[in-house]
Amino acid sequence: MQAVQDYIQENKDRFLDELLDLLRIPSVSADPAYKGDVLKTADFVAESLRKAGADSVEVCPTAGYPIVYGEKIIDPAKPTVLVYGHYDVQPPDPVELWESPPFEPVIKKTEAHPDGAIYARGACDDKGQFFMHVKAFEAMMAQDALPCNIKFMIEGEEEVGSANLGIFCRENQEKLKCDTILISDTSIIANDVPSITVGLRGLSYLEVEVVGPNRDLHSGVYGGGVANPINVLCDMVSSLMDDRKHITIPGFYDDVVELSEAERKKLNEAPFDLEKYKKDLAIGDVQGEAGYTPLERVSIRPTLDVNGIWGGYIGEGAKTVLPSKANAKISMRLVPNQDPEKITQLFKQHFERIAPASVKVTVTPHHGGEPAVTPTNTPEYKAASMAMEMAFGKTPIPTREGGSIPIVALFEQVLNAKSVLMGFGLNSDAIHSPNEHYGLFNFYKGIETIPYFFAHYADAK
Ligand code: BES
Ligand code: MN
Ligand code: MN
Repeated sequence: MQAVQDYIQENKDRFLDELLDLLRIPSVSADPAYKGDVLKTADFVAESLRKAGADSVEVCPTAGYPIVYGEKIIDPAKPTVLVYGHYDVQPPDPVELWESPPFEPVIKKTEAHPDGAIYARGACDDKGQFFMHVKAFEAMMAQDALPCNIKFMIEGEEEVGSANLGIFCRENQEKLKCDTILISDTSIIANDVPSITVGLRGLSYLEVEVVGPNRDLHSGVYGGGVANPINVLCDMVSSLMDDRKHITIPGFYDDVVELSEAERKKLNEAPFDLEKYKKDLAIGDVQGEAGYTPLERVSIRPTLDVNGIWGGYIGEGAKTVLPSKANAKISMRLVPNQDPEKITQLFKQHFERIAPASVKVTVTPHHGGEPAVTPTNTPEYKAASMAMEMAFGKTPIPTREGGSIPIVALFEQVLNAKSVLMGFGLNSDAIHSPNEHYGLFNFYKGIETIPYFFAHYADAK
């Protein structure tokens, strides 16, 4: 093991340079304008796996962006770890709020990252994180120290809902056969407080349209007498939560699993500094569902948020107009045992029912995803826990996170394997926001931890 760690130390500058090259390719899956770059990124990932020592490396076509596969089977009798990650990234906009161009990575020191952090779209989510696995694999291969079989599946459509991943998994069950799935696409509490994610929320995402009069009207001539779709949309949206921030959609909470007092107590023992949280976000106060702590609100409770809202005149100056229509994109984060399709239906029925006769409402579902909880009594959790303990010098805390990785539930169903969510990002790394970054400490700590995971996992199995 020391040889592997020495190899990592000796090659750390090159590892970073390679990651910076990967970050320079703008693999934005949501925007067709980047199609060529997304495909180029898949090739880059495939080439990096080949160079690291993987066999059977393939850029597997799907109906959307390809899935990069590679493997190293040292002995079919040994256990197999499937590493999952995604090479696609979120759109960089609003670009004007970036302090440096999103696809020209630079390293800057911050309060949370005194050793420096890489600023670029995808630095933390998820290029910087899955690339740690490629480099840890390279180090294990170079030192002839890979203790079990490894398979890589790096996809290019995670940020747009992984529409083709389920089909790929079903069609390639034999190829993807594994004992566990290892994913680095989540956070730790702090650089000196390691944690392992044991729960993720699910998602129901939809779009609504509220249509009033058949054309934009003069807001003086008609205002007051004809329903304004933007006003109506705002009324309707605000009625979706009561003053205790409880969601009012009938049946919404029916399947929610409530945690026991003991589980809630444990969850709230995780370090959380409310003042620092508020300061970091420059907010005067937090808000949320009555009866739950800030940590609970962002992990074990479902939510409803407007992600975007538009309509009417938004150009320079003023234009007196009563618009014909208004739209919003709405997401609901779900917790175990809520079913995204059922929740989408409940929303649709309710939203159509509360619409006043003065407007027409359409609800269009987008993608969804199931929530997940991962057990802590598995060999993979224990291996991750011991690996982090070796690398950080502290036992990691199991945490539940608010984000979603819908494929975790899918893998369990299709591949019949549990995942272990050993991520290394910080919540303050600004994923999906301008100035996304990833700490150099986190990048190198991840590369250091991963070989320990493999050693412990191979031992335990
Ligand atoms: N890596 C994130 C999810 C995440 C971030 C989990 C931080 C835990 C902590 C992932 O790339 C992501 O952004 N997922 C989407 C869901 C998807 C269906 C678009 C999300 O959570 O919005
Ligand atoms: Mn991600
Ligand atoms: Mn993401």
